[in-house]
Amino acid sequence: MIRLEDVSRSYGEGDNVVHAVQEVTADIESGSYTAIIGASGSGKSTLLNLIGALDRPTRGKIEVAERDLGKMNDRERTLFRRTKIGFVFQFFNLLPTLSAYENVVLPAELAGRAGKDTRARGDELLDRVGLGKRRAHRPNQLSGGEMQRVAIARALMMDPPLIVADEPTGNLDSKTGQSILQLLRESVGNDRTMVLVTHDPKIAAQADAVITMKDGRILEEAS
Ligand SMILES: Nc1ncnc2c1ncn2[C@@H]1O[C@H](COP(=O)(O)OP(=O)(O)O)[C@@H](O)[C@H]1O
Ligand SMILES: [Mg+2]
Repeated sequence: MIRLEDVSRSYGEGDNVVHAVQEVTADIESGSYTAIIGASGSGKSTLLNLIGALDRPTRGKIEVAERDLGKMNDRERTLFRRTKIGFVFQFFNLLPTLSAYENVVLPAELAGRAGKDTRARGDELLDRVGLGKRRAHRPNQLSGGEMQRVAIARALMMDPPLIVADEPTGNLDSKTGQSILQLLRESVGNDRTMVLVTHDPKIAAQADAVITMKDGRILEEAS
């Protein structure tokens, strides 16, 4: 599903250069749940942003769903990101002026699909994440766990083959975090892969495979 070949990402230049990710080579299997773990500053988010086509490597090759990300122009990358990847972030990244429902269906509207099917899927997803009765609420009227449920429903809207999640439970209490994790795990498998960044070994222990990062490099890969 995902192939990283000798991938590096540096920021800045000269004396200020930061090698956030260095010479990373890894394969992530289709349908699996892979955790990226490591200390703060070890390059986890940088690596996830590269996999999610939010950022480009300084060196190396990244393939996602059999597409070489480096060979896409900006328009192709945007389209690829919108249709093939669902994003879940620590701070939810919902649009504050939109309702829960409007946040969920936004990816479809951006893709120019605003019909009956989109409305039905938006409602179905809100039901699936347990928020059928909160569809008209704005993010500031929801709890952290509820906001993350909206974000998960939004991530699933386009039925993407890949979900990337950066510390999705990092801003939630442990019980709420556990239920969010459960919901994410239920969404993975068959044809959907998930890569999740965490600094919590207990969360990583539940994954099918673990990539441990240290100082921008992979320390070990267990599965
Ligand atoms: N936009 C940026 N500009 C400069 N340095 C950055 C940028 N983003 C991340 N870094 C640096 O790259 C390293 C890895 O960061 P990051 O991938 O965010 O780590 P993690 O997610 O594991 O905490 C850190 O040293 C961080 O300061
Ligand atoms: Mg991070």
